[in-house]
Amino acid sequence: MRVSRSSFVSRIAPGLAFVALLGLAGCKDPGTASKGGAESGGAPTAAAQDTSGSEIKIGHYASLTGETATFGVETNEGIELAIKQLNEKGGMLGKKFRVETQDDQSKPEEAATVVTKFSNDPQIVAVLGEVASSRSLRAAPILERAGLPMITPSSTNPDVTKVGPNIFRVCFIDPFQGYVMAKFAHDDLKVTRVAVMHDQSSDYSVGLANVFKEEFAKMGGSITTDVSFNSKDSDFRGQLSQVKGAEAIFIPGYYGEVGTIARQAREQGIDVPLMGGDGWDSEKLVEGAGGPGKALENCYFSNHYSKDDKSPRVQEFVKAYSAAYGKAPSGLAAMGYDAMMLLADAIKRADSIERPKVREALASTKNFPGVTGDITIDADRNATKPAVILQIKGTEFTYKATIQPPSAAASTGVVKQAASAR
Ligand code: PHE
Repeated sequence: MRVSRSSFVSRIAPGLAFVALLGLAGCKDPGTASKGGAESGGAPTAAAQDTSGSEIKIGHYASLTGETATFGVETNEGIELAIKQLNEKGGMLGKKFRVETQDDQSKPEEAATVVTKFSNDPQIVAVLGEVASSRSLRAAPILERAGLPMITPSSTNPDVTKVGPNIFRVCFIDPFQGYVMAKFAHDDLKVTRVAVMHDQSSDYSVGLANVFKEEFAKMGGSITTDVSFNSKDSDFRGQLSQVKGAEAIFIPGYYGEVGTIARQAREQGIDVPLMGGDGWDSEKLVEGAGGPGKALENCYFSNHYSKDDKSPRVQEFVKAYSAAYGKAPSGLAAMGYDAMMLLADAIKRADSIERPKVREALASTKNFPGVTGDITIDADRNATKPAVILQIKGTEFTYKATIQPPSAAASTGVVKQAASAR
């Protein structure tokens, strides 16, 4: 499945290859200088890096407030825990790490504004963020033009890393996630007629809905209908009346609207299992669905890790995070932690905080031992990793199954422990 660099470069448009070469050489896209305007906040060029400071300064843009506030807050907690642990071990290259987190209020346009600040800050070595794919997609071109390496902890839309050679992720992508939920619906729930409800304002939701439909159809299932909504809506009854009759409903949305949709579905007498993707991961999900044991009880979603994983690596992380924040870490916290630790590992291997050298080291990451699994960055700057399926029980997300990427699963069957865990 892996593509070598030369074939990757030859497959992409000549324009992108040109930018790629500039990025590799650590130069700036000359086109940026005259652009300015709203996207880059009017800044004519990105500031040249200054590596003389006593700190390794990392930027993080995140939804600390707004519609998906738990995404940013939990990710930031994971990042801060990683930084605390790194600094307790003495930091790196004689410097201490520091993260500057900027709130984008869960808005793509704010994400563009705050990363423009980062691109004008000569001290910043690399940027972490965002969670929501629409916001990563808005910010990534600005960071790419500035030659600032960006790692999204958990944006799963494939287009994010296609923006350019400085844009990385440490999570799996939606073509895999959609396959995972289709496979689970087909093999484990054993349903054949599934409806889909997607958020038309979200790149993540649109992309994941499409993959699910394709994969489920390939498995012989039928999609009864696919209806769209907007996450800002509060009344989903019209859409719900159209999905009646399906044996399950796949809703690749974010936790806020999913809670409301689930409540309104049950009010209408729809009692089939609801399924989702990683966007359901929030400590606020169950509360929004009317509380424990209510509208989302026994429903399923795919995610990046399970806190119930018995491996010492995961359990050490769960212990340290719980001690720091008084709650169990979500997948988002784990992904934030992994993104920061992987960045530190790249800085160590680069033996430098110069952005082009850090970029090179990030691109050559192999088998980095993350709490969300071993992370190898492939030629497209994505990570190939297994996914887990979680089941909602009370306020808990309990482990149900691990699903390997297709290549690794070919000989063993894909849904591994699902049958026995029932
Ligand atoms: N994968 C989602 C996206 O790309 C974001 C997300 C990841 C949300 C993990 C919750 C947990 O938009």
